Amino acid sequence: MASFLLLLLLSLSLSAISAGPAPSAAPPPAYTLAYSNTVLETSDLTYVLQDGVWVGGPKVSLVVGDEQIFEFTTTITSDVAAGAWQFCVDAGSAAGSTAHRRCTREVWQQMFEKELMLAHVSPITWRVNNEHHGIRRSKEWFEIAAEWLPHTIAGLIEPNEAPMNLLEIGAFEGGSTTFWQRYFLAHPDSRLVVVDTWQDTCDPDSYDSPEYAANPESIMEAFLNNVGKTANHEKVTALRGDSCSAMTDLLAQGGGGSFDFIYIDGSHRASEVLLDVGLGMRLLRVGGLMMLDDYKWAGGDTEGLEGEGEGARWGSGDCGAVEGRREATITEAIDVVLGSASGGVELVHCGYQLLVRKVEEAYDVGKPVRIL
Ligand SMILES: C[S@@+](CC[C@H](N)C(=O)[O-])C[C@H]1O[C@@H](n2cnc3c(N)ncnc32)[C@H](O)[C@@H]1O
Repeated sequence: MASFLLLLLLSLSLSAISAGPAPSAAPPPAYTLAYSNTVLETSDLTYVLQDGVWVGGPKVSLVVGDEQIFEFTTTITSDVAAGAWQFCVDAGSAAGSTAHRRCTREVWQQMFEKELMLAHVSPITWRVNNEHHGIRRSKEWFEIAAEWLPHTIAGLIEPNEAPMNLLEIGAFEGGSTTFWQRYFLAHPDSRLVVVDTWQDTCDPDSYDSPEYAANPESIMEAFLNNVGKTANHEKVTALRGDSCSAMTDLLAQGGGGSFDFIYIDGSHRASEVLLDVGLGMRLLRVGGLMMLDDYKWAGGDTEGLEGEGEGARWGSGDCGAVEGRREATITEAIDVVLGSASGGVELVHCGYQLLVRKVEEAYDVGKPVRIL
C-alpha cells in the first residue's frame, strides 16, 4: 500500500512537472488540414483544427499550408506518436495540456485509420510503398481491420500515455506486428511478445506463395526484416514455437492476467483456436482487450458441413465429428470459450474480426505451487 501511494505521489508530481507552461492567451492558429491523395482521391477533404481538436475523416497524407507534415510512406519507419506529439505542439496546444493529449489521440486515430485504409483499398500501392522502405509483404490480411479498428479502439486504449503489454499469436511476415509497433508501442515501457511457428503446420494457406514454398524459412526472415525496419523494434520479443506451449510457458512464469491486449491470428484449426483463446483469456488482465481474426472463417475440411459461414455446423451429439475426425469451425471454437458463462467477456466489435474486453477473472491464474 505504502509503495502504491509513493508511486501515486511520484506520478502526480511527474505529471505536474511535465504539464509545461500554461497555454498562451492568444487563440491557437486555425490549421487547415488538407489531404492530397491520388490513391483514395480524397484531396477535396479539408479539416480544421480548432483549440487543439482535430475533426477528421479518412485521409492519406497530411498537409498544413504548403508543408507536408505526414505522408503515409514516411510513417512506415517513423514513430507515429513522436510525429503526432510534435504536430500538436506546432498546432498550438501546449505539451502536457488536456488539449494536447486530446489532439495527439485524434492524430493517432486518424493516422492509424488512413494508413490501414490505404493498405486495405489499394494493396498494390501499399506493397510498392512498403518495398520502397525495404519492407517485404506478400499478403494483406490484417488490413481489413481498417473498416472498424482505429475508431473503435481509439477511446479504449491510450498507447501514448500508458505502457501496454501486448501478445500476438500468429505473425507471418509481421503484417499486423508492424502496425502494433507503430501504433501501440509508443510508450517507452510498452512491450510486445510475438509467437509463431514460422512453419507450415496448422496454416497451409499462409505458405502457398511460390517464393515461400521454395524456401519456407524466408517467411521468418521477412518477419525479422520487417520488424527490424519498423519503429519500436527493440520492444518486440519473438518466440518461435507452438502457441499452446508458448502461452503455457508464459502462464507458468506468472504471466497470468498481465497482458493489456492480445491478438489471436495463428492456427486455423478450431481445436488449436480453442486453446489459443482459452489460454489467452487467462493471460489477459481484467479490462484488457482480445482481438480475434477469422471469426467467420469456415475453411478447412468442410465435407459434411451443414450451412455456411457463421451458421455452419456439423451434426452434434451423433459422434459424427469424432468418428470422422472433422474440425469444428473457428466460429464454434471461439463461441465455446467466449460464449460460456465463465468467459467473463463483453463484446466490443463483432464482424469477420472480433474484439472483446475481459470483465471478470474466471480463475485464479497464479503460478502452480508444488505440494508433494
Ligand atoms: C494468417 S497468418 C498471420 C497473419 C498476420 N497476423 C498478419 O496480419 O499478417 C497465421 C500464422 O499463424 C502461424 N501459426 C499457425 N499455427 C500456429 C500455432 N499452432 N502456433 C503458433 N503459430 C501458428 C502460421 O505460421 C502463420 O504465420
